[in-house]
Amino acid sequence: MDREQWSSKLGFIFAVAGSAIGLANIWRFPYIAGHYGGAAFVILYLVCLFAIGFPAFISEIVIGRKTHKNPAQAFKELGHSNTWGKIGGLTIVTGFLVSAFYSAVAGWISGYFFEAASGGLTHFTSHAETKAHYEALTQNPIWGVGFHLLFITSCCAVLYYGIKGGIERWNKVFMPLLFLILFTLVFYGLQMEGSGEGLSFLLTPDWSALSNEAIIVALGQSFFTLSIGQGTLVTYGSYLSKSERILSSSFPIVLMDTLVSLLSAIAIFTIVFSVGIAPDSGPALLFHTLPLVFSQIPGGYFVSVLFFLLVLLAALTSEISALEPSIAYLCDRKGWKRTSAVLAVGAASFLVGVPCALSTSLLKDYPIFSFPNFLEAMIYLCSNIMIPLGGLAAVILTGWRWGMNGFFTELFAESKGSGFVKSYFRWTILYLSPILIILVFLNEIGFFS
Ligand code: PHE
Repeated sequence: MDREQWSSKLGFIFAVAGSAIGLANIWRFPYIAGHYGGAAFVILYLVCLFAIGFPAFISEIVIGRKTHKNPAQAFKELGHSNTWGKIGGLTIVTGFLVSAFYSAVAGWISGYFFEAASGGLTHFTSHAETKAHYEALTQNPIWGVGFHLLFITSCCAVLYYGIKGGIERWNKVFMPLLFLILFTLVFYGLQMEGSGEGLSFLLTPDWSALSNEAIIVALGQSFFTLSIGQGTLVTYGSYLSKSERILSSSFPIVLMDTLVSLLSAIAIFTIVFSVGIAPDSGPALLFHTLPLVFSQIPGGYFVSVLFFLLVLLAALTSEISALEPSIAYLCDRKGWKRTSAVLAVGAASFLVGVPCALSTSLLKDYPIFSFPNFLEAMIYLCSNIMIPLGGLAAVILTGWRWGMNGFFTELFAESKGSGFVKSYFRWTILYLSPILIILVFLNEIGFFS
């Protein structure tokens, strides 16, 4: 059977943007930007994005498009060895593990979306109340596992219909809807009285907050948000036809991804500050602060529904892209039918996600190594270890094994490509990106301390 392809450039753009734009943009970016120095962090983040993230992002897409294979076979073909094949296989495993914890977390978002829709997020008068409500929900194992199951089943339903009829079709609906909701929320936030304070919280640069830790966070954020290191981009690139230009399709994706992060931060902080509440970080921002805010602003019901729908749509399209590499592998390599592969991968990801979903209830008091629970351990393993290594493998494979000439031929096809763009990629893929990833990684595992 012929390998499926995106029907158009736009289909590819929406699918990859759908993958990139996720919880990391709407939920994580706003609070890390607020925490690590506002505009100063934004600048640091943009530097990481263009010095390290973008070259790795393009390398992975090019590897996929060159080979038209899943990551394991693609790495093996370009690296000419089984070891490279295994490394490619490991990136598929990373995507799979991410899909498991991501779905558990997105399950809570789904649960909160239903709470919002039923009017349950607009009657709070204090932080203590929103916190108690959050605990009542998340300490119920059936609630957590039930919504995790519902969420992953919805993703599998889309994946079942394949590349064009499933992933592409639904991303073309979900992504424009996501932008529409985001613009509405930004507009709403900006016209609130006191929105200026939210903007200045976000945009006033605090250079003293730019610690080593901020650099690690910025790097991790740029990788996670661009879906690097987890087989997704190689797989989505492998469905791209040879006639499409890679650079002009990929650059807008990175811009959109960045725009969504910034706009989400603007929407959240203008709305939160308009009622004079200090924003929390982490899960508390979404589940404690926001419901309290929704209870106090005009039209809070609609804002709460729109907000959780926004996060849910972003999570759905990302989860789909985290599951697809494993499905592609089973179909290409093992000759499975797509239906069986979707079922098997969905079921396995659900099972691995169960202990994550139970991390706030039944498994709350079971630490794993130095991590408070299974979910935290999984997040650390994937985001701090496996994803950076996956990204590193992609740039080393491209720059040092396959070679920049092969890469440029695939990237530019018949056109020669501008000298500036070539030097940018040569410097970043060969040197900057691998060296910085290695340094950050060594720092993280305590090598320098
Ligand atoms: N990029 C997504 C986000 O920002 C996360 C993601 C992870 C997507 C793994 C695909 C694969 O939330």
